[in-house]
Amino acid sequence: MNESLERLKEEVAGRLSRSVSEAEVEQLRVEYLGRKGTVTGLLRGLKDVAPEERPQRGEELNRLRAFIEERIAGCLESLKAEKRSKALTEERVDITLPGSRRERGRVHPLTMVVDEIVDVFSAMGFEIARGPDIEDDYHNFEALNMPKDHPARDMQDTFFVAAERLLRTHTSPVQIHVMESRKPPLQIIVPGAVYRHDDDATHSPMFHQVEGFMVDRGIAFTDLKGVLTHVLRQIFSADARVRFRPSFFPFTEPSAEVDIGCVICDGKGALRDSHACRVCKGTGWLEILGSGMIDPEVFRFVGYDAEKFSGFAFGMGVERIAMLKYGVEDIRLFFQNDLRFLRQFPSF
Ligand code: DAH
Repeated sequence: MNESLERLKEEVAGRLSRSVSEAEVEQLRVEYLGRKGTVTGLLRGLKDVAPEERPQRGEELNRLRAFIEERIAGCLESLKAEKRSKALTEERVDITLPGSRRERGRVHPLTMVVDEIVDVFSAMGFEIARGPDIEDDYHNFEALNMPKDHPARDMQDTFFVAAERLLRTHTSPVQIHVMESRKPPLQIIVPGAVYRHDDDATHSPMFHQVEGFMVDRGIAFTDLKGVLTHVLRQIFSADARVRFRPSFFPFTEPSAEVDIGCVICDGKGALRDSHACRVCKGTGWLEILGSGMIDPEVFRFVGYDAEKFSGFAFGMGVERIAMLKYGVEDIRLFFQNDLRFLRQFPSF
């Protein structure tokens, strides 16, 4: 091969061996073998070569071109291999890392507690009833034996929507709706949201209650005690202590508040460090619900004969039960939708 072609060959080989990217190799290919490339130019110049030298010159140029093509292919091959092995070490996939799982939703703790309460009552044959969140004064107060000037209205800081319309302050008005439209025997529970103008660590302007009542011939206070004791032992624990304490509600007579032995200090009133238990305020008891025998005056409002029928009723706060069951100290946590809080409850 003539000397200048030999030099050209070495130049190409040297440049290719130093190139570090496919783009660079491509650039060299264009520079030598492209339409305006050096070797292409030389091949084109063959026609000006003396006829007797042409075959040899042609063969030499063809060999040079083949050499360059081969080197380029080899160069691209090794660049690719290099790239691949670099990726294999640098971009190594750690197959022991946990995969990204699909997030599963879960039931809100308040829904869980309501479901549990409903299940316990359903097993005893109670039906579920519901009523409107926006009530009239008559169903929320009047027919529950709380006339306009009744001091008991003061305890239920009411949100009024209009003169005689309000956000129900309790689920008790559903008692009235049900009794207005049906006759005994009745065994009903009413889960639902209620509203009061109140907002601190243990009170929320919107919270939930489960109201319940049972009306038939011959229902007595023993029925109330039996049903509620069973329910509280199902919800808290089989050996929970239950206490009935005389109280007053305008819609029941007699009335009782029901307490359970404090679930935090185990009814002792004090913690192991002998500090008074904050949750039961040292009493050893927690008030869980209000109850009583339905007042004959309420029966009069719905047109029931109080000589024939009797019944008991009760109302419990869902948030309070959930707070005690799960040791939640601030009621507002239930409504902030903070996933760190909600994820602590079991999913199923
Ligand atoms: N409605 C009462 C409240 O919100 C709770 C209650 C007490 C309901 C006694 C009753 C009952 O049915 O008999 O505070």
